[in-house]
Amino acid sequence: MRMVDIIEKKRNGEALSTEEIRFFVNGYTQGEVPDYQASALCMAIYFQDMNDRERADLTMAMVESGDQIELSNIEGIKVDKHSTGGVGDTTTLPLAAMVAAVGVPVAKMSGRGLGHTGGTIDKLESIDGFHVELSNEQFVKQVNDIKMAVIGQSGNLTPADKKLYALRDVTGTVSSIPLIASSIMSKKIAAGADAIVLDVKTGDGAFMKTVEDAKLLAEAMVQIGNNVGRNTMAIISDMSQPLGYAIGNALEVKEAIDTLNGEGPADLNELCYTLGSQMVVLGGKASTIEEAREMLEEVVANGAALEVLKKFITAQGGDASIVDEPSKLPQAKFITEVVAKEAGYVAKIEAEDIGTAAMLLGAGRATKESEIDLAVGLVLRRKVGDYVEAGESLVTVHANSEDINEVIEKIYTHIHLSKDPVVAPKLIEAIITK
Ligand code: URA
Ligand code: CA
Repeated sequence: MRMVDIIEKKRNGEALSTEEIRFFVNGYTQGEVPDYQASALCMAIYFQDMNDRERADLTMAMVESGDQIELSNIEGIKVDKHSTGGVGDTTTLPLAAMVAAVGVPVAKMSGRGLGHTGGTIDKLESIDGFHVELSNEQFVKQVNDIKMAVIGQSGNLTPADKKLYALRDVTGTVSSIPLIASSIMSKKIAAGADAIVLDVKTGDGAFMKTVEDAKLLAEAMVQIGNNVGRNTMAIISDMSQPLGYAIGNALEVKEAIDTLNGEGPADLNELCYTLGSQMVVLGGKASTIEEAREMLEEVVANGAALEVLKKFITAQGGDASIVDEPSKLPQAKFITEVVAKEAGYVAKIEAEDIGTAAMLLGAGRATKESEIDLAVGLVLRRKVGDYVEAGESLVTVHANSEDINEVIEKIYTHIHLSKDPVVAPKLIEAIITK
């Protein structure tokens, strides 16, 4: 087999065989296929697309390019959740605790944040003593015992994707549906998921700016999952403004605790119940979405979900007393209210720029190596559609430096007020099941 023939075949719009796709993925991973041929093929895929069978083959070839996490010793159906990334997306923690409390095992591998989006691992590390390094045996045992464990990325998972993603980033081939969909799905499958619930974000703060594009990506991922034997569904959710109120690591842990106390922001709460109901059904613990939702509401109301969170924190070395006393979480030194200069309805909170403002405070990373400040961040006091009087707070800034002029400037530039009433954006745009 020759790589040049595979490139020409795709360039001419033909479908590649399973063997050709494997030849490319294995050859590229092992350094036998050079970058220039891999980038030519990615560009050909970008223009000529791939059919469902090719997409499934590409995904599985990437899964098989490295280690796969073995979760078969965990009882029950392992349902994983994946978000395509957003600003202030606090969902994973409260969602995992709720779902685990209903009996669906949550064996999660999570990442760190980069740029304007946060990562669950960083948030968890704002809890004193918490660690995310568990051996495979400890991981499996903890999920069997208390139904919930979260580890950092470990092992040599999908090396083909790592290499290809870096190449696509510099060759104008990131925004190709078959390439994005196979990249995301390969990582979830290699991490051991039996079933997958996808939260595809849309809007200013998301990878996919329009609902139409988000739907195309969601449908592609759902197809791949179902074609390789993983029950998969997706929701399309709004990321035109940050999710919930808090953006920043310790601040989001507090928001997660509030949500499990039934006192979370309305949008975060709704997203947790929507995703959670799907996970509970896929996990085989309920037969309808309505039944699943009632079960989740029950474990929040009776405190069982909060109990799971405490056990989970303790099991991974953390100080679980922060759940009852969130003031023990890292606190920033300087708290500043950014107040509205005039009265009006909040028309827009540009998610990406507000995420960047939180990053400037030290809540996020500019590069992979940056140190982050777990205490700092922003808490929105108003969301789109809310009214604010002149002099009332729009945002509370939690900073460890007094020099926050640039951050305040950004907040004023990227939160827009209107004299006329504004309708809040719809949170759940669509549910995609096939
Ligand atoms: N995120 C991924 O993991 N892969 C892509 O290709 C794009 C976004
Ligand atoms: Ca949030």
